[in-house]
Amino acid sequence: MIYFITGVTGTVVPLIVEELMRKDDNPLFYFAIRKDAKGNGIQQRFESLVETLDLDDAEKQKLSARSTLVQIDVEKEKLGIEPGLYNELVTKVEKILHGAADVRFDQPYDEIKISNVVFSHKIYDLFDEIKNHRKKTGQSDATLYYISTGYAYGIYKKKIPEDFPDFKPGKPDNTYARTKAEAKIFILDKINRLNDRIVLFEPTIIGGSAKTGKTKTYNLHYVVLMLGYLGKLPFFTAADNQQDIVPVDWVADVISDIMAKDEFHQGVIRLACGPDAATVGHVHDAGYEYFTANDPIPGHEIPKIAFVPRWVFYFMINAQKTFNQAMYKMTGKKKYRKMVVGVRLLEGYFPYITRYKVFENAKSTQLLERYTDCPKAPMLQNIKDKNGNLVKKGYIDKILADALETGWGGLVDYDRVAKQVAAGKRPR
Ligand SMILES: NC(=O)c1ccc[n+]([C@@H]2O[C@H](COP(=O)([O-])OP(=O)(O)OC[C@H]3O[C@@H](n4cnc5c(N)ncnc54)[C@H](OP(=O)(O)O)[C@@H]3O)[C@@H](O)[C@H]2O)c1
Repeated sequence: MIYFITGVTGTVVPLIVEELMRKDDNPLFYFAIRKDAKGNGIQQRFESLVETLDLDDAEKQKLSARSTLVQIDVEKEKLGIEPGLYNELVTKVEKILHGAADVRFDQPYDEIKISNVVFSHKIYDLFDEIKNHRKKTGQSDATLYYISTGYAYGIYKKKIPEDFPDFKPGKPDNTYARTKAEAKIFILDKINRLNDRIVLFEPTIIGGSAKTGKTKTYNLHYVVLMLGYLGKLPFFTAADNQQDIVPVDWVADVISDIMAKDEFHQGVIRLACGPDAATVGHVHDAGYEYFTANDPIPGHEIPKIAFVPRWVFYFMINAQKTFNQAMYKMTGKKKYRKMVVGVRLLEGYFPYITRYKVFENAKSTQLLERYTDCPKAPMLQNIKDKNGNLVKKGYIDKILADALETGWGGLVDYDRVAKQVAAGKRPR
């Protein structure tokens, strides 16, 4: 199969590529890549990426030999792809995986729209040309696979429905959710009006691997766990709220199964734990227990977090922000500005944690049973058996172990924390 793939330098797509290498006997890849902010070119970026993949040396060589790199610039016409190469894509590609997006929660709408909406339009234009070319030349139909998100539904008071072919999102939580909803509306319209072969995947929150606990990005729940470990989160809220976290390797397994098996070609597959997802309280208790038992810093005390009502929590957050804004205006000291930026970043995360978000997944589970070898998501929490005994499944412990071992991917400087503990100070 010949694939055109976006987002290969991200968190999720590299694992899908690893799986396609295992599941497809004869894969050929075109990878859409841009230069990075440090000036690394696309070849250099791709080579470093291949090194990190969970493939043996022979497989890595095979992947490199079967890959063509396509430099893209989303803001340019036809993604800025050189015309000869664009034409090659139109005549050769059979499947597109559009996994690229700007997943930050604090970006201005006009900027994030380019990566999340404009990019999707241009990918569809390419798909449309491929589709028409294949029809004209009597070849098998092309398929577009698009990674959306369950959070495109925004604020929902009830369970978030599996309403394909409809989609009625609530008010978005942030510009990420808004732009992902706009892209989904655009894509669904193509299915509903033109009967295009498009599959949308809707993961919820993607966490570390269930096999190894490892992740490439330590955001959202990882940041909250880190603040708890450092004693920087004396209060929190919404202990009963669910956090629907699914492992990155399961997400990659499902998406690659759907692509390689080539039997399901139209519709939405939600990738969620559903109504059984772990609660914030459970994640807190597991984190507290694990970090206390395995803390690498002797004498470091992890304070317990007090759970308070939402309004108290938001009142304290606003008070913090207002105080630091005022202090920054008065003194011009950078530390106050840093606090304001930190609080703003967390505010982007809060809706995902403190707002009711429960995802229906019954229809998708049926689709997964029928079309993949990986029907249910591994649950984050340990579960109770029929007699009420706790059965340790271990996924959450793997995530916690990886976070602690790597210092949240280097975000926590253990030497500094140890010095602060030795000096009798609380870590900052
Ligand atoms: N992570 C989650 O929890 C989660 C949950 C639900 C759905 N999703 C969806 O899953 C997909 C993959 O997410 P992820 O976590 O892997 O994201 P990620 O780690 O942030 O990676 C994003 C990828 O998109 C590329 N990209 C973004 N904007 C681009 C642009 N303007 N031009 C070219 N490339 C661009 C990035 O390239 P550079 O390296 O060049 O920046 C990178 O390869 C996204 O569609 C996301 O919405 C993610």
